[in-house]
Order: sequence, then structure tokens, then C-alpha cells
Amino acid sequence: MRRFTALFALALSALVYAQDGSSSIPPKIAPEEYRERREKLMEKLNDGVVLIEADPLLAGASGIDANTPRFDYTYLTGYHRKGDVLALIPSLKKSILFSEEPEEAKRQAGMKDVMSREKLEEFLKEITPAASVFHTRLRKEAKELVEKVAEEISATVKSAGRVINREITRMRMIKSPAELALMRKASDATNKAHLAAMKACKPGMNEGELQEIIEKTFKSEGCDGLSFPSIVGSGKNGTVLHYMKNNREVPPNSLVVIDIGSSIYGYVTDITRTLPTSGKFTQEHRAAYEVVLEAQKAAEAILKPGVTFGRLERAARKVFQDRKRTDWSYAHTTAGGPRHGLGHFVGMAVHDSGEYGRPLAPGMVITIEPGYYNVRDGYGIRIEDIYVVTETGFERLSDGSPREPDEIEKMMAN
Ligand code: GLY
Ligand code: MN
Ligand code: MN
Repeated sequence: MRRFTALFALALSALVYAQDGSSSIPPKIAPEEYRERREKLMEKLNDGVVLIEADPLLAGASGIDANTPRFDYTYLTGYHRKGDVLALIPSLKKSILFSEEPEEAKRQAGMKDVMSREKLEEFLKEITPAASVFHTRLRKEAKELVEKVAEEISATVKSAGRVINREITRMRMIKSPAELALMRKASDATNKAHLAAMKACKPGMNEGELQEIIEKTFKSEGCDGLSFPSIVGSGKNGTVLHYMKNNREVPPNSLVVIDIGSSIYGYVTDITRTLPTSGKFTQEHRAAYEVVLEAQKAAEAILKPGVTFGRLERAARKVFQDRKRTDWSYAHTTAGGPRHGLGHFVGMAVHDSGEYGRPLAPGMVITIEPGYYNVRDGYGIRIEDIYVVTETGFERLSDGSPREPDEIEKMMAN
């Protein structure tokens, strides 16, 4: 199945890309695929009724940040409205969405069985005794309702949040051909935006002007949003993680970190390039840049199924250590504390759901993004690429953004 997925995805990418190198817009995830996702989950939770509530997208549970919205519910339904409830009945291979706004849900959701949220109680009473166990991932109000009904009809309620989350995460980690096509499209548009930024970048312009050029490119390529707020950090702003002000004049003979990603139909990308603001790297900047690139390539060299994020990190870290760049380098601030990880899963969210300790497998999409942050001298360097893990290694979706220093200089001279 996994081999099939990777091969099919490769064939699809050949079809999607037009001859001039620009890509057409791939289709949205089809209702059929949403159904398959729900059925796959039902194979794991195969008795009773499974009840899953749509969480707030950005709830503040640990590990959830603005880059990590909770898209589990959307992944199953193609729709999200906080408080809506999805009911799965494995014995009937059936699913029903109970929505506060059923008409809107009917228009947008990737499923046809939609009912008013008010009907949930009636449904629960009617579905027994066909299903006398309720496996739930519900918040307070819905949970109380289900418990009340369960008591009335002598059904059992089992809290299944952990199992449900784990199974959805495992499904989300392996991208389908349709998901990969969307991520390829988002990456392709982002590569074009990087090229546009390389051609436009000049000292004296505002970081915001570069942001505008980038986001205009996303739009003209047919993308419908941002993966995260664009980061255009020149000089010392390049040492600030998640810098978003983008309002400073770009200084000469410095560097600018451009960390950007577009989105299309709910799928995103994440690509960073660091440019010499005057078009040529200074000797100092080039030396540091080459270490970061070498660290990235060291991790890339071992990227294939079976490898873990831990091993990728160690490979990159060894380069920084060998090159004696440990004081300001990746994963360490000047104070010695951790700065950011080497990479992460990408998908519906830029920091996507994933089991970070487990070996990587074909169909997973990750970034590798070593950085070097020289706070004292006021510049940052980050190189971030995005990869699909394949049967034999990887495919780099960010190939269209030059990362070799000579190539960047050449592009900037154009
Ligand atoms: N742009 C967010 C990240 O690189 O993880
Ligand atoms: Mn990233
Ligand atoms: Mn990024």
C-alpha cells in the first residue's frame, strides 16, 4: 500500500506539472477520500459508536501553538465548526456529522450525512442497541449529554480521546497522493516566491516590500492562504524566531532570513532561504552559511525510511561541532539553551501532527532546517527544505529554491 502510494504520487506529479514548469491547481480532497479516512479509523475502533467533537482550532493545550492548529476533525470531515460532533458507526460503516449550522456544513463538508446538532440525543437513543458502547472524544457539554443518554439506555461510555488522537495522527503522518499534490503545489508557489524575492532584494528596501512580493506570488500562483505569517528578517531580525514585524529597512552587506509558506485547500509548505542583502555573501557570512548547508546535507544524506528525527539531529549537530560553530549554532542560543529543533512534520498544519520518536516512513513529509544565529554580530542563517520520504530516500519539494551560495548570488544578479 505504501509503495503504491509513493509510486502513484510520483506519476501524479508528472501529470500535474505543465510543460512550462508552472503547476496547475490540483483538486481538493475528494469526499471519497474523507470517507476512506473515516472508514480506516472505524477499523481501529470497531464497535459501538465513536463520537468525536470538533475542538477549538487553537486550544492552548501543551504543545499546541499558532503553528499547530488542531485539524483532526477537519481531516475526517473536510469541515470544522467548534462544538460539532462526528458520529461513526463501525458496524454500519456509516458516519453522520451533527452540526450547529447544518446547511453550511452540508455545503462545505466532504460528507453528505449532516444533521442538526440538536438531533444528537435522539440519534444516540435510536442507535442502541445496535451500539451500546460510546467511544468518546468530547468536551464537557457534549460529554455530559452522552453520559446522561447512556444512563437512560444502559449504554457504556468509554473515553477514547487518546486512542482516537493517536490513530488520526498515524493516518495524517502518511500523505495520500491527493495530499501530496496539494503540498507540491504549495511548495512550487513558495519556490517561485523565493525566486521573486531573490530577484527583488536590495539594501534600502523595506522587509515589508519583500513580504508583499512573496505573498503576491502566492496569490498569482493560485494559492489561497499562508502556512504561517511570513518571516522576513534582515540583519539582527534574522536571529529572532518567528519574527513577524517585517518593517525594517534591509541593511547592506548583511543577510535576510526569509521563512515562508503558502497554502492551498488546507495543505501547506514551509521553506526558508537566507540571502545576502547586497547580492554577494561577505566572507564571514559565506563561511557560516556553508556550515549550515553542510549540516543540512549531512542530515539529508541519511534521510530514508527507518531513520528518526533524533538521528537526523545528531548528523547535523556533528557538523556544527566539527566546524566549531557550537556557540551560536543550531539548537543553541548564546546562553546555551535550545533554540529550535532540526525539523518537523508538515501537512495540514505547518507543525503537523506526528509521532516524533518513531522511525520515518514513505509518504511522510518533513522539514530539515538547521540555523545559525549570531546575536553578537547581528545576523541569522536558516536553510529549510521540505521533503517527502520515499521508499528509497526522499523527494525535495523545495528543489526550485536555490540554496547553493553561488546559485543564490547568480539569481540575485539577474
Ligand atoms: N516557519 C516555521 C518553521 O519553520 O517551523
Ligand atoms: Mn519549519
Ligand atoms: Mn519555516
